[in-house]
Amino acid sequence: MKDPTTYFPGEAAIGASESQSSGLRASRRAFIKGIIASGAVAASSGYFLAGCAPGKGPAAGAVERLISLNINGKTRRVDVLPNETLAMTLRNKLGLTGTKLACDRGECGACTVVIDGVTHYSCSMLTHTVGSRSVRTIEGLEGPDGELHPIQQAFIDELGPQCGFCTPGQIMSTVALLESNPHPTREEARRALSGNLCRCGAYDHYLNSVMRAAEVS
Ligand code: FES
Ligand code: FES
Repeated sequence: MKDPTTYFPGEAAIGASESQSSGLRASRRAFIKGIIASGAVAASSGYFLAGCAPGKGPAAGAVERLISLNINGKTRRVDVLPNETLAMTLRNKLGLTGTKLACDRGECGACTVVIDGVTHYSCSMLTHTVGSRSVRTIEGLEGPDGELHPIQQAFIDELGPQCGFCTPGQIMSTVALLESNPHPTREEARRALSGNLCRCGAYDHYLNSVMRAAEVS
């Protein structure tokens, strides 16, 4: 049986030869690397506008207030509305689009960030309630010279993502897990990532990524 981590049915479907297949694997790896490094997946216009849809905008008469947030170790001053979620602030006001917004109702985990060491769904938290707590997003993982965090590298090495949309959330949950439990069992890792859904069903690859990250961290 073909190794599912290296064999992709699509290669056969497009009639790729052995050498072409290895090229496809390499380009897929490069593609995943791009996703994980930037945390930026192209957004459809419908997705981008979701936060501006009727019923999601500011309440009549609502005014923005200037607050300070601690994001990835830096103080960020930003005007926020009373009903503004942390996900919207991060993405639309601070340009931190690595935090994804999918269900926008606390069900999928795409928007996961780490606040004071604990994972939170940023779509389900009002920004003004964050206070002085330390917020970490996928953008905060890179090293001083832009190098990938070992967890990001492990996700690449295990070809964890498929489309990559849920990946920043999966990685942030892994960060919180490994900081509190550096050597989890596979079952503990499964439980820690159980709040992160993946429509591509890449769960086993993600678990392999977590276990590899635990080995190298
Ligand atoms: S977008 Fe926040 S849980 Fe789905
Ligand atoms: S990799 Fe596509 S949703 Fe998880």
